[in-house]
Amino acid sequence: MRVVKTIDEVRAQVREWRAHGLTVGLVPTMGYLHEGHASLIEASHRDNDRTVVSDFVNPMQFGPTEDLESYPRDLDRDSKIVEEHGGDLIFNPEPAEMYHEGFSSFVDMTVLTQELCGLSRPIHFRGVCTVVSKLFNIVKPDRAYFGKKDAQQLAVIRHMVDDLNMDIEIIGCPIIREADGLAKSSRNTYLNADERQAALVLSRSIALGKDMVKNGEKSCDAIIGEMTKLISAEPLARIDYVKIVDCATMQQITELDRPALCAIAVYIGKTRLIDNFFSEDV
Ligand code: PAF
Repeated sequence: MRVVKTIDEVRAQVREWRAHGLTVGLVPTMGYLHEGHASLIEASHRDNDRTVVSDFVNPMQFGPTEDLESYPRDLDRDSKIVEEHGGDLIFNPEPAEMYHEGFSSFVDMTVLTQELCGLSRPIHFRGVCTVVSKLFNIVKPDRAYFGKKDAQQLAVIRHMVDDLNMDIEIIGCPIIREADGLAKSSRNTYLNADERQAALVLSRSIALGKDMVKNGEKSCDAIIGEMTKLISAEPLARIDYVKIVDCATMQQITELDRPALCAIAVYIGKTRLIDNFFSEDV
Protein backbone atom coordinates (compact mmCIF):
# COMPACT_ATOMS: atom_id res chain seq x y z
CA MET A 1 0.00 0.00 0.00
CA ARG A 2 1.45 3.37 -1.08
CA VAL A 3 0.71 6.92 0.04
CA VAL A 4 1.20 9.63 -2.59
CA LYS A 5 0.78 13.39 -2.44
CA THR A 6 0.73 14.46 -6.09
CA ILE A 7 -1.68 14.12 -9.00
CA ASP A 8 1.19 12.98 -11.26
CA GLU A 9 1.98 10.06 -8.94
CA VAL A 10 -1.66 8.92 -8.89
CA ARG A 11 -1.89 9.13 -12.67
CA ALA A 12 1.37 7.21 -13.19
CA GLN A 13 0.20 4.42 -10.85
CA VAL A 14 -3.26 4.16 -12.41
CA ARG A 15 -1.72 4.15 -15.92
CA GLU A 16 0.50 1.23 -14.89
CA TRP A 17 -2.49 -0.71 -13.52
CA ARG A 18 -4.50 0.02 -16.65
CA ALA A 19 -1.62 -1.23 -18.83
CA HIS A 20 -2.05 -4.58 -17.07
CA GLY A 21 -5.81 -4.53 -17.75
CA LEU A 22 -6.73 -3.97 -14.09
CA THR A 23 -9.96 -2.29 -12.92
CA VAL A 24 -9.86 0.57 -10.42
CA GLY A 25 -12.25 1.59 -7.63
CA LEU A 26 -12.15 4.97 -5.86
CA VAL A 27 -13.23 5.68 -2.28
CA PRO A 28 -13.29 9.46 -1.78
CA THR A 29 -12.84 10.41 1.91
CA MET A 30 -11.80 13.31 4.10
CA GLY A 31 -9.72 10.95 6.25
CA TYR A 32 -9.95 10.06 9.94
CA LEU A 33 -11.35 6.80 8.69
CA HIS A 34 -13.84 4.67 10.63
CA GLU A 35 -15.73 1.42 10.01
CA GLY A 36 -18.07 3.20 7.59
CA HIS A 37 -15.10 4.06 5.34
CA ALA A 38 -13.68 0.57 5.91
CA SER A 39 -16.89 -0.92 4.51
CA LEU A 40 -16.53 1.25 1.37
CA ILE A 41 -12.90 0.16 0.92
CA GLU A 42 -13.93 -3.49 1.34
CA ALA A 43 -16.72 -3.09 -1.23
CA SER A 44 -14.27 -1.54 -3.69
CA HIS A 45 -11.70 -4.27 -3.00
CA ARG A 46 -14.39 -6.87 -3.72
CA ASP A 47 -15.50 -5.28 -7.00
CA ASN A 48 -12.19 -4.02 -8.45
CA ASP A 49 -8.60 -5.20 -8.95
CA ARG A 50 -7.16 -2.06 -7.30
CA THR A 51 -8.57 0.51 -4.86
CA VAL A 52 -7.56 4.15 -4.48
CA VAL A 53 -8.62 5.99 -1.30
CA SER A 54 -8.46 9.77 -1.47
CA ASP A 55 -7.77 11.34 1.92
CA PHE A 56 -8.31 15.09 1.59
CA VAL A 57 -10.10 17.54 3.87
CA ASN A 58 -11.58 19.63 1.08
CA PRO A 59 -11.61 23.32 2.13
CA MET A 60 -14.08 24.19 -0.64
CA GLN A 61 -16.98 22.33 0.98
CA PHE A 62 -16.72 24.05 4.39
CA GLY A 63 -18.55 27.30 5.16
CA PRO A 64 -16.66 30.16 6.88
CA THR A 65 -17.97 29.27 10.37
CA GLU A 66 -17.62 25.49 9.99
CA ASP A 67 -15.05 23.03 11.34
CA LEU A 68 -12.36 23.03 8.60
CA GLU A 69 -9.51 23.79 11.02
CA SER A 70 -10.57 21.35 13.74
CA TYR A 71 -11.57 18.51 11.39
CA PRO A 72 -9.60 15.46 12.68
CA ARG A 73 -6.59 14.37 10.62
CA ASP A 74 -4.30 11.33 11.15
CA LEU A 75 -2.65 9.89 8.06
CA ASP A 76 -0.74 7.12 9.90
CA ARG A 77 -3.95 5.81 11.42
CA ASP A 78 -5.74 6.08 8.06
CA SER A 79 -2.91 4.20 6.27
CA LYS A 80 -3.28 1.22 8.60
CA ILE A 81 -7.05 1.10 8.07
CA VAL A 82 -6.73 1.33 4.27
CA GLU A 83 -4.11 -1.44 4.24
CA GLU A 84 -6.15 -3.70 6.54
CA HIS A 85 -9.26 -3.42 4.37
CA GLY A 86 -7.66 -4.00 0.98
CA GLY A 87 -6.85 -0.49 -0.33
CA ASP A 88 -3.81 -0.15 -2.62
CA LEU A 89 -3.11 3.58 -2.82
CA ILE A 90 -3.87 6.62 -0.67
CA PHE A 91 -3.96 9.99 -2.42
CA ASN A 92 -3.31 12.60 0.29
CA PRO A 93 -2.75 15.93 -1.48
CA GLU A 94 -2.10 19.32 0.10
CA PRO A 95 -4.81 21.91 -0.70
CA ALA A 96 -2.39 23.67 -3.11
CA GLU A 97 -2.03 20.46 -5.13
CA MET A 98 -5.81 20.34 -5.66
CA TYR A 99 -6.44 24.09 -5.97
CA HIS A 100 -3.58 25.90 -7.68
CA GLU A 101 -3.39 29.68 -7.60
CA GLY A 102 -6.07 31.15 -9.82
CA PHE A 103 -8.31 28.07 -9.58
CA SER A 104 -11.68 29.24 -10.87
CA SER A 105 -13.74 26.39 -12.34
CA PHE A 106 -16.57 24.89 -10.31
CA VAL A 107 -19.18 22.17 -10.67
CA ASP A 108 -22.44 23.50 -9.32
CA MET A 109 -25.87 21.91 -9.22
CA THR A 110 -29.19 23.71 -9.38
CA VAL A 111 -31.38 20.77 -8.38
CA LEU A 112 -31.35 18.40 -5.37
CA THR A 113 -29.37 20.93 -3.30
CA GLN A 114 -32.11 23.33 -2.18
CA GLU A 115 -33.23 21.30 0.84
CA LEU A 116 -31.63 19.47 3.79
CA CYS A 117 -27.84 20.02 4.06
CA GLY A 118 -27.88 22.13 0.89
CA LEU A 119 -30.15 24.63 2.66
CA SER A 120 -28.15 24.70 5.91
CA ARG A 121 -24.75 24.68 4.14
CA PRO A 122 -25.20 26.82 1.00
CA ILE A 123 -21.76 26.32 -0.62
CA HIS A 124 -21.29 22.73 0.53
CA PHE A 125 -22.42 20.79 -2.54
CA ARG A 126 -20.57 23.05 -4.96
CA GLY A 127 -17.41 22.14 -3.04
CA VAL A 128 -18.30 18.45 -2.99
CA CYS A 129 -19.17 18.29 -6.73
CA THR A 130 -16.04 20.21 -7.68
CA VAL A 131 -13.64 18.07 -5.66
CA VAL A 132 -15.32 14.78 -6.60
CA SER A 133 -15.18 15.76 -10.31
CA LYS A 134 -11.48 16.52 -9.91
CA LEU A 135 -10.87 13.20 -8.15
CA PHE A 136 -12.77 11.39 -10.93
CA ASN A 137 -10.60 13.16 -13.54
CA ILE A 138 -7.40 12.36 -11.65
CA VAL A 139 -8.10 8.68 -10.87
CA LYS A 140 -10.49 7.84 -13.75
CA PRO A 141 -12.00 4.96 -11.72
CA ASP A 142 -14.41 2.32 -13.03
CA ARG A 143 -16.46 2.61 -9.84
CA ALA A 144 -16.69 5.04 -6.92
CA TYR A 145 -18.08 4.31 -3.44
CA PHE A 146 -20.10 6.62 -1.17
CA GLY A 147 -21.91 6.03 2.13
CA LYS A 148 -25.71 6.31 2.41
CA LYS A 149 -25.31 8.34 5.62
CA ASP A 150 -24.68 11.29 3.31
CA ALA A 151 -27.83 10.43 1.37
CA GLN A 152 -28.21 13.83 -0.28
CA GLN A 153 -24.53 13.78 -1.31
CA LEU A 154 -25.03 10.36 -2.91
CA ALA A 155 -28.07 11.63 -4.87
CA VAL A 156 -26.17 14.74 -5.97
CA ILE A 157 -23.14 12.71 -7.14
CA ARG A 158 -25.35 10.28 -9.07
CA HIS A 159 -27.09 13.22 -10.75
CA MET A 160 -23.79 14.93 -11.59
CA VAL A 161 -22.37 11.75 -13.13
CA ASP A 162 -25.50 11.41 -15.25
CA ASP A 163 -25.62 15.10 -16.27
CA LEU A 164 -21.94 15.27 -17.19
CA ASN A 165 -21.73 11.80 -18.83
CA MET A 166 -19.02 10.61 -16.48
CA ASP A 167 -18.34 6.97 -17.28
CA ILE A 168 -18.19 5.84 -13.64
CA GLU A 169 -20.49 3.51 -11.73
CA ILE A 170 -21.58 5.05 -8.41
CA ILE A 171 -22.10 2.55 -5.59
CA GLY A 172 -24.01 3.54 -2.43
CA CYS A 173 -23.15 1.55 0.72
CA PRO A 174 -25.25 1.10 3.91
CA ILE A 175 -24.85 3.23 7.04
CA ILE A 176 -22.54 1.59 9.60
CA ARG A 177 -23.52 2.13 13.25
CA GLU A 178 -21.90 1.81 16.68
CA ALA A 179 -23.30 -1.04 18.84
CA ASP A 180 -25.67 1.44 20.53
CA GLY A 181 -26.98 2.77 17.22
CA LEU A 182 -25.02 6.00 16.67
CA ALA A 183 -24.09 6.31 12.98
CA LYS A 184 -20.30 6.21 12.51
CA SER A 185 -18.85 9.61 11.67
CA SER A 186 -15.42 11.23 11.89
CA ARG A 187 -17.19 14.07 13.74
CA ASN A 188 -18.21 11.69 16.59
CA THR A 189 -14.66 12.29 17.92
CA TYR A 190 -15.71 15.85 18.84
CA LEU A 191 -18.24 14.56 21.41
CA ASN A 192 -17.44 14.48 25.13
CA ALA A 193 -18.92 11.69 27.27
CA ASP A 194 -22.22 13.51 27.99
CA GLU A 195 -22.60 14.54 24.36
CA ARG A 196 -21.83 11.02 23.15
CA GLN A 197 -24.74 9.79 25.29
CA ALA A 198 -26.99 12.63 24.12
CA ALA A 199 -26.12 11.88 20.46
CA LEU A 200 -28.17 8.68 20.73
CA VAL A 201 -31.29 10.80 20.17
CA LEU A 202 -30.42 10.79 16.47
CA SER A 203 -30.54 7.02 15.99
CA ARG A 204 -33.44 6.70 18.45
CA SER A 205 -35.51 9.17 16.47
CA ILE A 206 -34.58 7.38 13.23
CA ALA A 207 -35.75 4.08 14.80
CA LEU A 208 -38.99 5.77 15.91
CA GLY A 209 -39.64 7.18 12.43
CA LYS A 210 -38.93 3.79 10.84
CA ASP A 211 -41.37 2.09 13.24
CA MET A 212 -44.10 4.57 12.37
CA VAL A 213 -43.58 3.94 8.64
CA LYS A 214 -43.53 0.18 9.25
CA ASN A 215 -46.84 0.50 11.10
CA GLY A 216 -48.42 2.22 8.11
CA GLU A 217 -48.19 5.92 9.03
CA LYS A 218 -48.38 7.97 5.82
CA SER A 219 -48.47 11.51 7.18
CA CYS A 220 -45.03 13.14 7.04
CA ASP A 221 -46.14 15.75 9.61
CA ALA A 222 -47.04 13.00 12.08
CA ILE A 223 -43.68 11.24 11.65
CA ILE A 224 -41.67 14.47 11.78
CA GLY A 225 -43.70 15.61 14.80
CA GLU A 226 -42.92 12.51 16.88
CA MET A 227 -39.24 12.48 15.88
CA THR A 228 -38.95 16.19 16.72
CA LYS A 229 -40.59 15.64 20.11
CA LEU A 230 -38.09 12.88 20.95
CA ILE A 231 -35.05 14.92 19.92
CA SER A 232 -36.29 18.10 21.64
CA ALA A 233 -36.50 16.25 24.97
CA GLU A 234 -32.67 15.97 24.98
CA PRO A 235 -31.25 19.20 26.51
CA LEU A 236 -27.90 18.96 24.64
CA ALA A 237 -29.60 18.58 21.25
CA ARG A 238 -30.58 21.41 18.89
CA ILE A 239 -32.40 20.48 15.69
CA ASP A 240 -31.11 21.83 12.38
CA TYR A 241 -33.73 19.90 10.41
CA VAL A 242 -36.02 16.88 10.52
CA LYS A 243 -37.47 16.45 7.03
CA ILE A 244 -39.01 13.97 4.66
CA VAL A 245 -38.23 14.46 0.96
CA ASP A 246 -38.96 12.78 -2.33
CA CYS A 247 -35.91 10.60 -3.15
CA ALA A 248 -35.96 11.70 -6.78
CA THR A 249 -36.17 15.48 -6.25
CA MET A 250 -35.04 16.01 -2.62
CA GLN A 251 -38.09 18.28 -2.24
CA GLN A 252 -40.32 18.03 0.85
CA ILE A 253 -43.47 15.93 0.63
CA THR A 254 -46.50 15.71 2.91
CA GLU A 255 -47.62 12.11 2.26
CA LEU A 256 -45.53 8.96 2.02
CA ASP A 257 -46.91 8.11 -1.41
CA ARG A 258 -43.56 7.62 -3.22
CA PRO A 259 -39.99 6.54 -2.36
CA ALA A 260 -38.90 8.99 0.32
CA LEU A 261 -35.88 9.92 2.42
CA CYS A 262 -36.32 10.94 6.05
CA ALA A 263 -33.20 12.92 7.00
CA ILE A 264 -32.16 14.70 10.17
CA ALA A 265 -29.36 17.07 11.17
CA VAL A 266 -28.94 17.79 14.87
CA TYR A 267 -26.35 19.78 16.79
CA ILE A 268 -25.12 18.01 19.91
CA GLY A 269 -23.33 20.86 21.65
CA LYS A 270 -21.29 22.37 18.79
CA THR A 271 -21.14 19.16 16.75
CA ARG A 272 -23.51 18.82 13.82
CA LEU A 273 -24.48 15.18 13.17
CA ILE A 274 -26.70 13.67 10.47
CA ASP A 275 -28.66 10.45 10.11
CA ASN A 276 -31.45 9.13 7.86
CA PHE A 277 -33.59 6.29 6.61
CA PHE A 278 -35.19 5.50 3.27
CA SER A 279 -38.90 4.60 3.30
CA GLU A 280 -38.10 1.76 0.89
CA ASP A 281 -35.71 0.17 3.42
CA VAL A 282 -38.06 -0.12 6.41
O1 PAF B 1 -18.23 12.42 2.15
C1 PAF B 1 -17.12 12.99 2.26
O2 PAF B 1 -16.28 12.64 3.09
C2 PAF B 1 -16.79 14.15 1.34
O3 PAF B 1 -17.88 14.97 1.14
C3 PAF B 1 -16.15 13.72 0.00
C4 PAF B 1 -17.14 12.92 -0.85
C5 PAF B 1 -14.91 12.89 0.27
C6 PAF B 1 -15.75 14.95 -0.81
O4 PAF B 1 -14.80 15.73 -0.13
